[in-house]
Amino acid sequence: MKPIRKAVFPVAGLGTRFLPATKAMPKEMLPIVDKPLIQYAVEEAIAAGVTELIFITGRNKRAIEDHFDRAPELEYELTAKNKHELLRCVQDVIPRHVSCIYTRQPAALGLGHAVLCAAPIVGNEPFLVLLADDLIDASTPVARQLVEAAHQHNGSIIAIQQVAPEETNKYGIIAGKMVNASTTHVTQIVEKPAPADAPSTQAVVGRYVLEPEIFEHLRRTQAGVGGEIQLTDGISSLLQNQNVYGYQYEGTRYDCGSKAGFFHATLEIGRKYHGL
Ligand code: UTP
Repeated sequence: MKPIRKAVFPVAGLGTRFLPATKAMPKEMLPIVDKPLIQYAVEEAIAAGVTELIFITGRNKRAIEDHFDRAPELEYELTAKNKHELLRCVQDVIPRHVSCIYTRQPAALGLGHAVLCAAPIVGNEPFLVLLADDLIDASTPVARQLVEAAHQHNGSIIAIQQVAPEETNKYGIIAGKMVNASTTHVTQIVEKPAPADAPSTQAVVGRYVLEPEIFEHLRRTQAGVGGEIQLTDGISSLLQNQNVYGYQYEGTRYDCGSKAGFFHATLEIGRKYHGL
């Protein structure tokens, strides 16, 4: 497998579960303690060796571009006031060797469609996809765990975790043959199956390494669950031609797309890293 240099961040969703907070502000800019969700995901990707960050944005997402841009007036003020530590945390948001590219998803047609919008920028190489609303606290960043596993197995790889049987209808669910304690060769993937129809309780979480052939499959993918073009359906088509693996990552995930998960993350991250 070629080196993984690019990460795609689909951030064009409407964030309806956090309205009215997300009426004029992107969900991905909601902070856990002092850092927006998207910055946690970006730091994770950079720790996995990525040097090109591709954001799939939509309306009301300008704050994300501003966040990752330089802020000369603020930097000037902080320098003048000798606030060196704050200056560093503003300047260090994106290291110099990393570049950001923004492209728009014209309408929120689904996660699969959002990933497809990255096709002209990604080109013909494998890439990471990170969903910022899945915040994962891990000693080895999960994106790095996935990149290593993708190289080891030479194929696309999806982060998975076990969920309770009654929760399968909130996730993509995989089934397949275990190749070792943490890795499953995926033979089936379904979006949000009812518990009675779920092929397993192994759920997809928001981290993927995908081979570029996924784009051909997404181009052919029709709207599925919720009337949206689902990444799950594109992967279901990809695995007919190529190896796709599920990887049981090590770490603690917070579903920050839900209020309960967001609240939980704030408490736990606050306690663990900020002594709150
Ligand atoms: P969600 O399913 O959480 O949807 O998307 P959402 O719109 O962000 O939030 P709710 O459900 O209305 O509260 C999962 C990820 O996929 C992105 C979102 O930005 C989020 O990171 N996404 C989703 C897109 O980029 N485009 C889409 O059309 C849909």
